[in-house]
Amino acid sequence: MGILIKNGEIITAKDRYIADIYCTDGKIARIGTDLQKESAKDEIIDASGQLVFPGLVDPHTHMELPFMGTVSADDFENGTAAAIAGGTTTIIDFAIPPRGGDVFDALNQWKEKAKKAVADYAFHMALTGWFDHTAEDMRRCVQEEGVTSFKVFLAYKGAFQIDDGELWQALETAAKLGCVLSVHAENGDVILHLQKKLIAQGKTAPKYHALSRPSTLEGEATARFLALARMAGAEVYIVHMTCREAVDALAKVQRTGQKAHGETCPQYLLLDDSVHEKADFEGAAYVMSPPIRPRGHGEALWQGIQTGTLQTIGTDHCPFMQKGQKEMGRDDFTKIPNGAAGVENRLGLIYTYGVRTGRFDLCRMVDLLATAPARIFHLYPRKGTVVPGADADLVVYDPAGETVITAARQVSKCDRNIFEGMKVKGKPSHVIAAGRIQYKDGDLRVERGNGRFLKRQLPQNR
Ligand code: URP
Ligand code: ZN
Ligand code: ZN
Repeated sequence: MGILIKNGEIITAKDRYIADIYCTDGKIARIGTDLQKESAKDEIIDASGQLVFPGLVDPHTHMELPFMGTVSADDFENGTAAAIAGGTTTIIDFAIPPRGGDVFDALNQWKEKAKKAVADYAFHMALTGWFDHTAEDMRRCVQEEGVTSFKVFLAYKGAFQIDDGELWQALETAAKLGCVLSVHAENGDVILHLQKKLIAQGKTAPKYHALSRPSTLEGEATARFLALARMAGAEVYIVHMTCREAVDALAKVQRTGQKAHGETCPQYLLLDDSVHEKADFEGAAYVMSPPIRPRGHGEALWQGIQTGTLQTIGTDHCPFMQKGQKEMGRDDFTKIPNGAAGVENRLGLIYTYGVRTGRFDLCRMVDLLATAPARIFHLYPRKGTVVPGADADLVVYDPAGETVITAARQVSKCDRNIFEGMKVKGKPSHVIAAGRIQYKDGDLRVERGNGRFLKRQLPQNR
């Protein structure tokens, strides 16, 4: 069965035009005017007055991540269903071995967990230590397993954090292999000292989480990482950037031609640190790392997008329930599991507060949410654009109307939504993934296990 989308305004990172799209066998077969049904069974979507985007790519999620003594609340089935409801048809999740753990054990575990996904997925591999075999492990990941990107953490001391010597070896190896190395850039050593000091002073509430990890420590770690990446000659990507210092550090090296990319997330653009003050421990719902920053940093991030310093907007989707999970840190902010949901809301928020406010146009939005993540992480042009031969992953977006975000009506299992009460303009009317209509007018039609593992390849001509 094929799908014929009629008269929508197709938006790519480069172009916008009104045309029809015919999809069959899970691929976009044709784009043109006056396309006709090719079989009696073909489904027709009238997209007049609506926008048609490529299925979005979220380069940063954590489905069922074991972290801080618990596991993130959305599993691969539910989390990818939430993604589909929000127009995201591909996620790149992080396989994270415990410190000292085997990367192939982690990869197998993540592959097993992800078998129930309803949307396509790829994995970044986290390097949580450096051993004699790690360079060879990286090579095998890239050349045999289709895992072409890695991540290191410069924070979470005693858990995922690596030291500068380990970082250096990861950078050198990434440069040799030509793959991308991502980083969580905060200075975990200093954070640990600040955490201990605050707790000893009886400062245990959620707001002290943010005070224990000031933006200076993100700026420092970002600049250090970029300096070492430059020496090593590695292509790098900085995840979840939150602050002016980090944007400035990235902009500075980009001006010299260094191949370094930056990602931010809607929460850092749209919220400020006053959320941590909410009564009844509600501030815990907003505890994540790096933390949501004081007013002003959000504007620096919007400018970073507008000037091209930041290339992508991911979500860092990593929800924890208020009840039973966030509550673990009621008497000690260091025990509040870090993270929040976002995969379901990224498109609506960025369309509303990025495009409709005039900060950037629809083409740039598609670039930020789909094309650039697909390009940087070697999924393009199968993913991230609307072109014949690409996977039939498409979002038909009705720009009319307004909805209000609420945890009460979300697909994510989480009992909180950090964007609760925010108004969003328009909504997806149809989400097509792998050539099937998986979401229609609020109705999810996903099937457990339909998501596919995306084995990636480095481009030949790098
Ligand atoms: O608080 C966060 N961001 N939790 C998820 C893990 C990470 O650091 O990305
Ligand atoms: Zn992180
Ligand atoms: Zn993350």
